[in-house]
Amino acid sequence: MSQANHNEGAGDPDAGVAVSADLDGLGSLRRSHACDAVRGDAIGSEVCVAGWVHVRRDHGGVIFIDLRDASGVVQAVFKPDTAPEVHRRAHALRSEFVIAVRGRVEARSAETVNPNLPTGEVEILVEELRILNRATTPPFRIEDDPGVDESVRLRHRIHDLRRPPLQRALRLRHELYQSVRRGLSEDGFVEIETPMLGKATPEGARDFLVPSRLQQGTFYALPQSPQILKQLLMVGGFERYFQIVRCFRDEDLRADRQPEFTQIDLEMAFVGVEDVLEVLEALTVRAYADVIDTALPRPFRRMPYAEAMARYGSDKPDTRIQLELVDLSDVFAESEFRAFRGVLESGGIVKCLPVSQASALSRSEIDRLEDLVKKELGGKGLAWVRVAADGSWQSPIAKFLSEDEKRAVGERCDAAPESLLLFSADEATRANAILARLRSDLGHRLGRLDDRPWDAFFVVDFPLFEADDQGAWTYAHQPFVAPFEEDLAHLEGDPGRVRGTHYDLVINGVEIGSGSLRNHRRDVQERILEVLGYSGAESEERFGFLLRALEAGAPPHGGFAFGFDRMVMLMAGAESLRDVIAFPKTQRGLDLLMDAPTAVETEALRDLGIRITTAQGRQ
Ligand code: AMO
Ligand code: AMP
Repeated sequence: MSQANHNEGAGDPDAGVAVSADLDGLGSLRRSHACDAVRGDAIGSEVCVAGWVHVRRDHGGVIFIDLRDASGVVQAVFKPDTAPEVHRRAHALRSEFVIAVRGRVEARSAETVNPNLPTGEVEILVEELRILNRATTPPFRIEDDPGVDESVRLRHRIHDLRRPPLQRALRLRHELYQSVRRGLSEDGFVEIETPMLGKATPEGARDFLVPSRLQQGTFYALPQSPQILKQLLMVGGFERYFQIVRCFRDEDLRADRQPEFTQIDLEMAFVGVEDVLEVLEALTVRAYADVIDTALPRPFRRMPYAEAMARYGSDKPDTRIQLELVDLSDVFAESEFRAFRGVLESGGIVKCLPVSQASALSRSEIDRLEDLVKKELGGKGLAWVRVAADGSWQSPIAKFLSEDEKRAVGERCDAAPESLLLFSADEATRANAILARLRSDLGHRLGRLDDRPWDAFFVVDFPLFEADDQGAWTYAHQPFVAPFEEDLAHLEGDPGRVRGTHYDLVINGVEIGSGSLRNHRRDVQERILEVLGYSGAESEERFGFLLRALEAGAPPHGGFAFGFDRMVMLMAGAESLRDVIAFPKTQRGLDLLMDAPTAVETEALRDLGIRITTAQGRQ
């Protein structure tokens, strides 16, 4: 409804909305206390509190209300003999009604003290009640676990936001904003905003596009990150920039991915890798101390990418899980077992995840793992060996293996009675991904985590390029990553050997952020774009403004972006980003509260010069 219609409606007696006369205003009632502040020291004094009716109990004449505000809960008591009229009106109260009460604070009798509540020793004997607003029946109870499907919570997000976990998470989020802003400002970083309407930057996802009305047929891209702009700010002479910034990526969503999310984005001039890592470590340690009063162990170690992949099959391993992969490719190079040898001959690998003391895993559970590998993870199979109490092997592949192979496998995998060995033979990326997933699943299921609550480290020395399916070079992170100087020579002959200055911060198996030094020389940046297959004209069209900036006195620079939501998720102990974002989107990119996205009026499309041609969109 437009603003004009709305105003007309309000003045029209036939519009059908009557303003009811029976609700109270705050009147002279002024809050004296937050609910949670009504404690023992207030006994005997008069207080005035306001909030929502959390729970109402009618105990044969006496009515008890747990009154909730942003601070917590306090009990208000309505007695027929203290204030009969107020008591009568209290019968009308229902869950989530908004009220203000005035009354005297009394000590609860010993047997009614609630030790689980900070205000549990007192109650307010109500003398005046104001009903400020009624409320429809809430769709679920406002409590830690309301026991309803997440889609119900998302549709009724206002009620959901009242629940303690979301109240805590969003307050924690607020603390993190403050800690970051304070810390980075003290360290000389300048907060600068960059536009939301801009040009596509290659961060590897699809762009959200915004059609231009003034330049019909053209589109802005919402930023996947402010990557190029922060580089331009370095050329622009700021030296230390940061921004807590919204980023947009049209990609397949998961628990740790939202289509719009927040980064702590930063960039620094005249730095090397270690300078940046120092700043990142300090920021992270300070944030954990400020926000959840936790001292993260320092220094964060540096793990080369190659080591992460070899030992854990992942570039973001949770190293608290005490299980490691073993590469057995050399053992099976000449094997009679076709499934393994064939993979090796076509350039793949054979790796094993040995799990000691695994007798708890039944045969049917192993079958389920094999199903997972084949159906969800795209693997060809999951060969396994169970070592029996007498050391003998139960295994569908034992009959294909020679005694030498068995001995080598046993030794390399520390096989002992009750061990389970799981094998993947596949192209390296897939074999690693499969075993990394099994390592994580089984590590949690069998309780194989060590007792460190927090495991934070940097992964370093990533390759600059990866070969794609067709054998062409593509960037491992993004095209602006600077190679190590000593690897520059390989850019010409052997790009696969060039290491990038890229680094990731991993905490508890979650990629919390990533960054790198950038190419500040035009010739190096152009050469990299060339290796990536951009023609000179394409480079100019997409990145001309960056290339020209690099010629305008660009200092060496580098930076990083933290996934802000992921940091909050970890600190809050939440399972999903949706539990730390006020108004998140579902797995399918929907906002169930606002009901977005929606079709728009034909007229609006006409202004933009757009016609919808898909079946669902046609009007
Ligand atoms: P990158 O693409 O790795 O780097 O993003 C940085 C961090 O942002 C978080 N993140 C996400 N969080 C929630 N939902 C998503 N869809 C999502 N995508 C990414 C992750 C990730 O580590 N410009 C570079 C940074 C740089 O080089 O300075 C960049 O954006 O935690
Ligand atoms: P097959 O000879 O294909 O019946 O396979 C025998 C066993 O090896 C089965 O348990 C398969 O799951 C497993 N297997 C087959 N191919 C692979 C592979 N590429 N990687 C791991 N295990 C495999």
